Amino acid sequence: MPTELRSAAIVGIGSCLPERVVSNAELEQIVDTSDEWIRSRTGICERRIVDSTKAASDLAVQASLAALAMAGLPAAAVDLIIVATITPDNIFPATASRVQERLGARKAAAFDISAGCTGFVYALGVASQFIATGLYNNALVIGSEVLSKFVNWQDRKTCVLFGDGAGAVVLKAVPAGEGLLGLHLGSDGSGADYLAIPAGGSRLPASNSTVQRQLHTVHMNGPEVFKFAVRIMGEASLKVLKKAGLNKEDIDFLVPHQANSRIIDAATKRLGLEPEKVYINLERYGNMSAASIPVALEEVYLAGKLKVGDIVLLVAFGAGLTWGAAVLKWVLDVPEEGAS
Ligand code: ACO
Repeated sequence: MPTELRSAAIVGIGSCLPERVVSNAELEQIVDTSDEWIRSRTGICERRIVDSTKAASDLAVQASLAALAMAGLPAAAVDLIIVATITPDNIFPATASRVQERLGARKAAAFDISAGCTGFVYALGVASQFIATGLYNNALVIGSEVLSKFVNWQDRKTCVLFGDGAGAVVLKAVPAGEGLLGLHLGSDGSGADYLAIPAGGSRLPASNSTVQRQLHTVHMNGPEVFKFAVRIMGEASLKVLKKAGLNKEDIDFLVPHQANSRIIDAATKRLGLEPEKVYINLERYGNMSAASIPVALEEVYLAGKLKVGDIVLLVAFGAGLTWGAAVLKWVLDVPEEGAS
């Protein structure tokens, strides 16, 4: 295929969700909150939490195996692995290197991307560029998060929001005009402290004091992130549609980052979309950060809601602050009944 006519498309998708379900009622037992508050302010009813032995790479490997199987791509043929995560196994090496080893993807280059909850859209965009230029013919793009290990379980403003999980997609080269049609990524570092794990990096290395002050857990200015998210989800969506030469009316399905149903409702209104065209699963998983979009996309696909040629809009916001939107022309056939 001549490289100037190449794009990248999702040809396999998989997920891994921990078995343990933690309901809002269970959280009422450990922190001063209520099922009513969490549901009405966020839309979340329950989330999945890993057991203490599991790390981001464990979930990533399981999700990847499912995506590779669907794509019919042997691990040994994978060219590139990108893991989007803010909860890596280690500060270094990259979680992607651990995934590469566990999969036996010996010829793959591997690295991580940190863009908060926007990480999957960033990773999808980066991997697609490698494919479009002809450097690689395929890529495995994963969002994997274990935020349960980084939240302060005494902080009701954050601990009720997040869940663990992973989603993975296999990208392959397709002719231009299919797969990724448009990409819009952005960042505003002036909001970096609105959502951060303050310690454990080179600015504030780990010490007894940082541990005592809970500085290795997620610190968030919820209302500021909320205001930003409500504005940026609509804006980013409109920008990427323009870049792709499409209109709001062309969208067949919106798969947004799953942080808060009120944020998604605002984006839906801004785009004038019918609610049936918007996928929401945060009531079951909470905010899985970079894993939210691939997990939701897999559910939409396995439910038979996407057909070849459909226009799918992905849009996310997250720590950084960052944002990203991608428009895809779907290329996978509706799965056979019972695939889900
Ligand atoms: N249970 C009960 N009460 C609570 C809880 C809780 N879990 N959390 C906060 N409250 C209280 C607060 O203490 C406050 O009480 P006060 O008025 O007496 O001080 C009151 O509820 C209102 O608090 P706010 O923070 O103003 O509530 P808000 O309506 O803004 O909702 C929320 C908070 C849900 C966090 C919202 O701000 C939000 O969704 N923000 C976006 C967060 C987000 O999406 N983060 C993920 C970013 S992506 C990434 O990269 C990880």
